[in-house]
Amino acid sequence: MYIYSIGHYFPENILDNAFFDRLDIESSADWIRDRVGIEARRSVLTQEQVMDLRHGRTTREQLKAEGAIETIASMSEKSWKMAKARSPDVNATLDTVIGGTSVPDDDIPSNGCVISNRLGLEHLRAFDVNSACSTFVVQCHVMRGLVASGLTKEGAIFCAERYTTRMDYSDRRNSILFGDASIAALVSSQNRPGSLKLIDSLVESSPSGWEHIHLPDGKFFHQNGAQVQKFAITKTIAAAQDILSRNHLKTSEAQWFIGHQANYRMLTTSMEKMGVPESRHLFNVRDRGNQGAAGAPSVLSQNWDRYQKGDYIVVAVVGAGLTWGSLLLQKQ
Ligand SMILES: CC(C)(COP(=O)(O)OP(=O)(O)OC[C@H]1O[C@@H](n2cnc3c(N)ncnc32)[C@H](O)[C@@H]1OP(=O)(O)O)[C@@H](O)C(=O)NCCC(=O)NCCS
Repeated sequence: MYIYSIGHYFPENILDNAFFDRLDIESSADWIRDRVGIEARRSVLTQEQVMDLRHGRTTREQLKAEGAIETIASMSEKSWKMAKARSPDVNATLDTVIGGTSVPDDDIPSNGCVISNRLGLEHLRAFDVNSACSTFVVQCHVMRGLVASGLTKEGAIFCAERYTTRMDYSDRRNSILFGDASIAALVSSQNRPGSLKLIDSLVESSPSGWEHIHLPDGKFFHQNGAQVQKFAITKTIAAAQDILSRNHLKTSEAQWFIGHQANYRMLTTSMEKMGVPESRHLFNVRDRGNQGAAGAPSVLSQNWDRYQKGDYIVVAVVGAGLTWGSLLLQKQ
């Protein structure tokens, strides 16, 4: 399977650390910078709307009913347009669309179907694969199987996340971590110029840890932060090293590393322990926050023009479930 184009989209609204200082939750910009290394995040919500949520002047349901929250299909369409504009083959007829999000507009139908309808796509199979922050890697894993079996020739993968709509804005531990984003990746069984070949993919889970990261129906996001941080570092390293070693590659032979954008400290600790130099570590968490499943692929997309022929790219993610996984890509 080849990823021959990818696009990203970030909403315009900026939630910077100074904004959280004004939110009256005893958040400190210095604490955030030192402990999680995040300076700003993008949100489908304006600062005023977040302030209203914080002080109980509105609710997510009310904002949704007013049409004030950008939909998953709208966000996906914007990243799709970027992917199409970058694509050397804009006319490929898609036979498979895989959507994925932890924060859908509706429980039914699948986001894959709603997104496909928005884009005017018909006569294809459209469905969702969701695995919280690991979703993009799991989607690629599933798509790889479909392509290998011959069932899929041309496909698209969508991840759109809006965790900022599911935060308790009186909770300084979690509300400062998240931002919103979407991505669209175009994939094919054919090698087109400039493609990234998916050499290998890895997905593993430890379901006994499911309660550590939880977004209960109708409630707010919750995670056992310190414990999850240890898991995130350990499994980022394991996922990256396992996929390299089973493909007979050393860490020094991969040109680029992209991790789950949970926080900057977790990422730099993981890279330091693996011996990855700063110049090979790609990230956007400092000014985009944790964008859930859209984080790692949005970094992949932002750096699309940097990859040179033959470069290996390792994408290693962790997420609720607990789940972790990785991709080994090579620029053609
Ligand atoms: C959540 C996280 C930032 C917390 O970091 P931490 O260093 O463990 O900090 P703690 O939560 O123990 O908090 C330490 C103190 O700082 C305080 N604090 C938390 N957020 C704060 C903020 N925004 N401003 C000021 N102080 C803050 C806490 O209230 C606590 O104070 P207390 O002991 O008086 O209650 C961190 O655990 C994290 O990012 N985890 C990773 C999550 C992850 O990888 N997820 C992946 C799957 S999505």
